[in-house]
Amino acid sequence: MSEETGFTTMAAAKAKGEVPEVRVGMLGYSFMGKAHTNAYKKIPYMMYPPPAIPRLDVICGRGKEAVAEAAKRYGFREACSDDWKTMLDGCARNIDLFDNCGPNNVHMDPTIYAMKLGKHVLCEKPIARTAEEAKQMVDVAKSTGVKNMVAFNYRFVPAVRQIRNLIDSGALGKIYHWRAVYLQEWILPHYNTPKIWRLDKSVAGSGALGDLGAHIIDLAHYLVGGVKTVSAMAKTFITERPLAENPDKMGTVDVDDAFVSLCEFENGALGTFESTRFALGRKNFNCFEINGEKASVRFNLERFNEFEIFYRDHEPKETSGWTTVLVTEGYHPWWANWWPHGHVIGWEHTFVHEITHLLDCIVNNKEVGPHGATFEDGYRSAVICDAILKSAEIKKQVDIKY
Ligand SMILES: NC(=O)c1ccc[n+]([C@@H]2O[C@H](COP(=O)([O-])OP(=O)(O)OC[C@H]3O[C@@H](n4cnc5c(N)ncnc54)[C@H](O)[C@@H]3O)[C@@H](O)[C@H]2O)c1
Repeated sequence: MSEETGFTTMAAAKAKGEVPEVRVGMLGYSFMGKAHTNAYKKIPYMMYPPPAIPRLDVICGRGKEAVAEAAKRYGFREACSDDWKTMLDGCARNIDLFDNCGPNNVHMDPTIYAMKLGKHVLCEKPIARTAEEAKQMVDVAKSTGVKNMVAFNYRFVPAVRQIRNLIDSGALGKIYHWRAVYLQEWILPHYNTPKIWRLDKSVAGSGALGDLGAHIIDLAHYLVGGVKTVSAMAKTFITERPLAENPDKMGTVDVDDAFVSLCEFENGALGTFESTRFALGRKNFNCFEINGEKASVRFNLERFNEFEIFYRDHEPKETSGWTTVLVTEGYHPWWANWWPHGHVIGWEHTFVHEITHLLDCIVNNKEVGPHGATFEDGYRSAVICDAILKSAEIKKQVDIKY
């Protein structure tokens, strides 16, 4: 038992054969802070027996009162100031896992600082604003040897993992095509969205590309493999918006509102990616299709619990066609921990699966990859994002060097 925090240390629990506690320090309490906290709370009783009991130790973010309120609401032992360095040097010095749910401009420095203190790290996506920043994070992850994971949570949708299992088993055969879109609508003119951090290059790095495109680029890496070359177009439809903090003043939007890209994979497959936050009617439309030699598959996040498959050699031929598979059986990924079949789960459960995986890796010294996205995977996704912007800028195809 740690005298300072009252939590059992990981090593002490393991020595006694008990489920160890992993003490969590979190940066950011808003959208992702809430999604991750929800997962930490569910893990001990839903992912039973859990690899570890997450303990919500310290949280920091913007604004003293807001952090204190978040700590109370989420059940963190302590609220820290809005300065992540003060948190990591001070009240969070006993944590085991640093969970970075901050905007993209506070991914690199705090995460590197935490790794150098020997903390395991979970960092929201995109791993960083540029591949150059991401590379620095990979280098420190390698030199410190801490467990590192980027929160590419769509790898942890049961249907997506089932598709990966099918690909690994050879059920699709050679893959010819990857076709992915991730579409939203919340910065269309009628929303009157001000210039928030997601529209500011100095904070976000890029626009729809890093926000949405990074997810489908990571899924392409996970399901199809490395990318050899890309070409792309990117567009900013509204170049000036009122500043979020001072609506009387206008600010320039210096990130892409939308991009489309073509790619060739190292294995010869051709792929397309499209992301936008201007797709009227599309709320969170994350959809991909893979066409293989023996089967094609299709996944749509809005149909979270299922995927579609078309088998070339389906018998009898008369009933051949696209089939919808409901991924809720006990033998499907993670399902044994949830409900009787057909009792569906949702988006927030991806974080439960993702963080359970990371805790297992931390406590049992397992590899985060290939199913979890390592910082190396985050870097590879950042390399593609940079190449897409470069291609759009120079109006030429760009070859990928990871
Ligand atoms: N995996 C996903 O599906 C998914 C979904 C949304 C966002 N994200 C990613 O999660 C990250 C956070 O996004 P969000 O939507 O939660 O953002 P948000 O704006 O809702 O929250 C950001 C949090 O960071 C804190 N913060 C901001 N600057 C800080 C600083 N300098 N020091 C300390 N705290 C600071 C804020 O107080 C706030 O609590 C981003 O990288 C985003 O790309 C991932």
